[in-house]
Amino acid sequence: MNTLYNEDLRNHNASWIDNITNDQIEVNDWLVPQINKHNILFAGTGNSSLAIQTHNTANLIDGFTIIRSEYDLGVKLGIPNYRVYYVDKYSDELLGLPNQYDFIVDINLSSYAKDIECFARMMNNYLALLKPQGKIVSHTNGLSYVCQSVRCISYYST
Ligand SMILES: C[S@@+](CC[C@H](N)C(=O)[O-])C[C@H]1O[C@@H](n2cnc3c(N)ncnc32)[C@H](O)[C@@H]1O
Repeated sequence: MNTLYNEDLRNHNASWIDNITNDQIEVNDWLVPQINKHNILFAGTGNSSLAIQTHNTANLIDGFTIIRSEYDLGVKLGIPNYRVYYVDKYSDELLGLPNQYDFIVDINLSSYAKDIECFARMMNNYLALLKPQGKIVSHTNGLSYVCQSVRCISYYST
């Protein structure tokens, strides 16, 4: 894996494995009843909540994370139609995922992007992985960060 992502996060103790975030709960509550044989890509697997709640109704769930303990937990669950990948969403490695998706779920869509170029690279990756009618699902809280970057502000002001 290359090193575009934040090394501090990679080694984070990932408290959200024990306590799923409120944003993920809200998105899951909205999305889970809609799942019917869909392909789901779950960005930032945490405690794999979305896979646990959809594996009976989804066609497949692929998830990815850059936190080893999240990856290990996802593998350990042994859900037959759920696969977890250790991959950086800002890298082209994401394009190596083996499926096209009806839903790409990323509650932290902009939270960890260090600049607008990173964010754009990730969005291009997501668009390449979406089926034609596919949807990217996020949470408003996870969309609030992208313009905090100085480079992003100057990007929008030029
Ligand atoms: C706050 S946790 C949220 C976990 C889970 N979605 C939840 O809400 O319970 C942030 C997640 O973003 C993922 N993440 C952050 N930067 C990433 C990157 N560059 N590539 C892939 N995943 C990333 C982490 O691996 C982690 O799973």
